[in-house]
Amino acid sequence: MKITDDIRYVGVTDRAIDLFEGQYRVPNGISYNSYVILDDRIAVMDTVDAHFTHEWLDRVTQVLAGREPDYLIVQHMEPDHAANILNFMRVWRNTTVVASQKAFAMMGQFFGEEFRDNRLVVGEGSTLSLGRHQLTFLTAPMVHWPEVIVTYDATDRVLFSADGFGRFGTPDDGMPWADEARRYYIGIVGKYGAQVAALLKKAAGLDVGMICPLHGPVLSGDEMTDALRLYRIWSSYTAESDGIVIAYTSVYGNTRHAVELLADGLRAGGAPEVRVYDLARCDLSQATADAFRFGKLVLATTTYNADIFPAMRTFLCGLTERNFRGRTVGLMENGSWAPMAAKVMRGILDECRDLTFAEPVVHLRSALSDSSRAELDALADALTREYRASRSDTANKHDLRALSRIGYGLYVVTTRDGERDNGLIVNTVTQVSDSPNRIAVTVNKQNLSYHTICKTGILNVNCLTEQTPFEVFETFGFRSGRTTDKFAGWTPLRSDNGLAFLPRYINALLSLRVEQTVDLGTHGMFICSVTEARVISDADSMSYRYYQERVKPKPETGGKSGYVCKVCGYVYEGDTLPDDFICPLCKHGAADFEKIR
Ligand code: FEO
Repeated sequence: MKITDDIRYVGVTDRAIDLFEGQYRVPNGISYNSYVILDDRIAVMDTVDAHFTHEWLDRVTQVLAGREPDYLIVQHMEPDHAANILNFMRVWRNTTVVASQKAFAMMGQFFGEEFRDNRLVVGEGSTLSLGRHQLTFLTAPMVHWPEVIVTYDATDRVLFSADGFGRFGTPDDGMPWADEARRYYIGIVGKYGAQVAALLKKAAGLDVGMICPLHGPVLSGDEMTDALRLYRIWSSYTAESDGIVIAYTSVYGNTRHAVELLADGLRAGGAPEVRVYDLARCDLSQATADAFRFGKLVLATTTYNADIFPAMRTFLCGLTERNFRGRTVGLMENGSWAPMAAKVMRGILDECRDLTFAEPVVHLRSALSDSSRAELDALADALTREYRASRSDTANKHDLRALSRIGYGLYVVTTRDGERDNGLIVNTVTQVSDSPNRIAVTVNKQNLSYHTICKTGILNVNCLTEQTPFEVFETFGFRSGRTTDKFAGWTPLRSDNGLAFLPRYINALLSLRVEQTVDLGTHGMFICSVTEARVISDADSMSYRYYQERVKPKPETGGKSGYVCKVCGYVYEGDTLPDDFICPLCKHGAADFEKIR
């Protein structure tokens, strides 16, 4: 088969194989690709599997048409490609074997022969001229073994990519590239995303018009562009598609029944794709490939021998050893007397980076019950919320909780009225322009500080660090300067404008002068110029989220019903929180309250 004017395909197709690498089902077979570059000097690119020695040698002989090959280029030593090196060299004894140093060491291990008298060791950037064709070799360690090189032919703009961009099936099977390439990639080189990314970076500097892998079809045009796009996604471990995979095991059908209900709930909830795998019966490599393909995964299994069902353990190990990461995971467990499946699954996944565990965990006790059905519904709701919110026809477009997603910092704004220092906590400090520098600070009009700023026209912004203890928020946030000396016990420092600033817990100080005031109803916004700006330390700034999660004590709502202020923990007891309610402690509005559950 002609690839270009000078490049011929001499690979073979294996349709009799049951399991590739002894584990991957290949219903459409697999090809072991080999190529010949015909030039002043001839190079043969890789050999094939041991079952196809004579078929391959015959093809090479036919393409050579009486000529002798000059080079046998060995990009990869796995036996599906390298099994016939010795057989080749017995036929064409004067050929020079071209490979990496590591590959020659492996030839010694496989064949007891390192071809010391007729070999050419190549490494990163080595070149070889065949006449018209100038070959450049690039190392590609761990794509898929450490000795791998790939070869760029600048003349025909061809990248011979070894296992990279390979797929199950055959070059002429007519199947779309992605599905079987994904199963091949995740299964065989999925662990080595960083190394694949490094190879892609090298390839990005080349003018590549065609990719010739060692398995599957030759890629060019749009198909090659899409393959490169998918390889960038796969090697970065990011999700390729929106959707949810449910992987489960079930002994007597109760867990399966729960999984089926969950799948229905996910579809009804707006999940764009739901794929369900019975791990004891499915092709595990397909389930694994889809776990990497989609952004969300639900794992459901039974407690078994004080552990989890074996097929689930095998599946999870397949994920962790391939660096599964950055996904949302839901858990369902079943157990009739000492259930522990969720705990075991969570423990196995502990080594995975950047997983988000969806709540709640579904607890089946032998069979579905009212409580486990409620958990199923809640899990389905949690997993599908973002899909509904993304679609115009299902989104709640008036969900003011969106405001709390705005990233805020936390600051102490200090003021001075006559001889009296004061300060308050605000989260509304923003740089609104840089030429000139303008800082907007918004303050509730009920606060004494608002009136002091209106009167004096100056203020200091103390940028709090993550080391700020809760006491600082209590002092400056939950008490009024009308009745409390907030600086009691402090020895404040002073900026050039005469105002106090905190001697601890801040990483920067801004002294501001009010240039403009905007009346916002309950609040006033001061647009300020900067008269002094000091960097105190490199400590990280306190974000509102960090404060909520790491600093603020959990509110004591035990036994109470009503709403709790997320800022200060104040509890409003009542069935309905008025829309215009203002927290009497911290002065935040109803949007900062949440219902006590
Ligand atoms: Fe196709 Fe890693 O061998």
